[in-house]
Amino acid sequence: MTTSEAWQAVRAEAARLEPRSLRALFAEDPSRTAALTVALDDLTLDLSKEKLDAAALRALVDLAEAAGVASRRDAMVAGRPINETEGRAVLHMALRGGAEAPAGAGVEATLARFLEFAEAVRSGAVAGRGGAIADVVNIGIGGSDLGPAMAARALRPDNDGPRLHFVSNVDGAHLADSLAGLDPERTLVVVCSKTFTTLETMANAKLARDWLGEAAAGQMAAVSTNLEGCAEFGIPEERVFGFWDWVGGRYSVWSAIGLSLAIGIGAARFRAFLAGAAAMDRHFREAPLERNLPVLLALVGIWRRNAMGWPTVALIPYDQRLERFPAYVQQLDMESNGKRVRLDGSPVGEATGPVIWGEPGTNAQHSFFQLLHQGSDVVPVDFVAAARPRAADPEHHALLLANCLAQGQALAFGRTAEEVEAEMAAAGKPTEEIARLVPHRSFPGDRPSTTILFRELDAFSLGRLIALFEHKVFVQGAIWGVNSFDQWGVELGKALAGRLIPALRDGTEPEAGTDASIDASTLGLIDRIRELQR
Ligand code: F6P
Repeated sequence: MTTSEAWQAVRAEAARLEPRSLRALFAEDPSRTAALTVALDDLTLDLSKEKLDAAALRALVDLAEAAGVASRRDAMVAGRPINETEGRAVLHMALRGGAEAPAGAGVEATLARFLEFAEAVRSGAVAGRGGAIADVVNIGIGGSDLGPAMAARALRPDNDGPRLHFVSNVDGAHLADSLAGLDPERTLVVVCSKTFTTLETMANAKLARDWLGEAAAGQMAAVSTNLEGCAEFGIPEERVFGFWDWVGGRYSVWSAIGLSLAIGIGAARFRAFLAGAAAMDRHFREAPLERNLPVLLALVGIWRRNAMGWPTVALIPYDQRLERFPAYVQQLDMESNGKRVRLDGSPVGEATGPVIWGEPGTNAQHSFFQLLHQGSDVVPVDFVAAARPRAADPEHHALLLANCLAQGQALAFGRTAEEVEAEMAAAGKPTEEIARLVPHRSFPGDRPSTTILFRELDAFSLGRLIALFEHKVFVQGAIWGVNSFDQWGVELGKALAGRLIPALRDGTEPEAGTDASIDASTLGLIDRIRELQR
């Protein structure tokens, strides 16, 4: 990327815009917001508070063209094995009708089957020993947890089925606290694991099976590509729902991994969730790059990360029900594009995936926003908000949205020393105090943000929003030339934990090694843990 002509053009744009403030850019071009706002129906992306302009965006679109984004997208849609390190196609779009599934996969039949099961649980046709299912406990981690857990919270007003609980952590407290107060004879446990070997999930599934006792045989279901593993665990075939190796874990909420969610919201709304994602797929496939929402979101990310050198992004939904959206996007983005080599194995020549983090507004305003406004680093912000509240007080929603917009304004335009001086003088403050406090009370501004706005948070708009981020991640991976669909980086920790378990569980003596397996520091910590456990 860095050696290409297209990249040099982006750099030149960055050098031109670097010294220009957002204040100046807005003052000079009154049509800026119109030019830098794009929409797909009600879903609107306002890029005008980013430190770029139409010419810079054009250079970025040229970069996407030069990087072959469109042809890589087409290769994904055509089912070519673009996940090269694992030799797999990447076809999560096929789960929602956004691409063709491989012949004979039976996507619609599988969908119909798990939705039928979800409806049977909701209606009581599938029940527990003690009567209709009152609670569903989803056991899974990473992509087998974050999607349905995030979506279940987001769509809480739509949940007219059993209560949903999500257990991921191998910390036994997670399962214990989630099961507390539940009736084992009216609880369905859904074990979600693509591989059905993940340590955390298998440990929690075994404990949940024990907790269910005699009810286990009829009150467990599983979602996996490892059908043999499910059978060995003792889950009957009619309660096992499969998916395919061409669906990555962090892209799997559209598959039967969404079963718990479907039990909560019902089949019709689950289909609306898929339809929302399919609408974004269509747009991603058909819209020209310069009007293509995921492409533009990705390019703004490239601009922030590579042209401006900002290493993190704060993702701030002004929506309490999207409280787990930052965590969801963290996995989606950081597990996909946290890569240091290109497809051919050579080191990337530029920074790749940024650190994504965030919390819902307005809570975040009262914790870390101070640093965003006046700290020494620039942290670009992605605001996400719905225009209308759902099952919430409209007056509160006005307060919420006013705060969202105000934060974008404050970040972009700040408050100059002159403004602070004038305000303090008008309030009758003595000159000496004004001089002392002006540096503390003024805001540099010029801090970028993107606002993502839509009408209302429902199953359709949530599906569309997730797909927007999925495709954004894809486009950035294509430009950086990395494989966004493997995750070898999580393997080493898993292997090392496996070697440490006997020492911590059974008290066997670990052996010091010269390799990274059990080093002196780790041995020291094991000793200290044992001491503290005595
Ligand atoms: O953390 C690595 C990872 O493989 C994720 O990609 C995945 O979502 C998660 O573990 C869970 O894996 P599984 O669904 O196989 O249990």
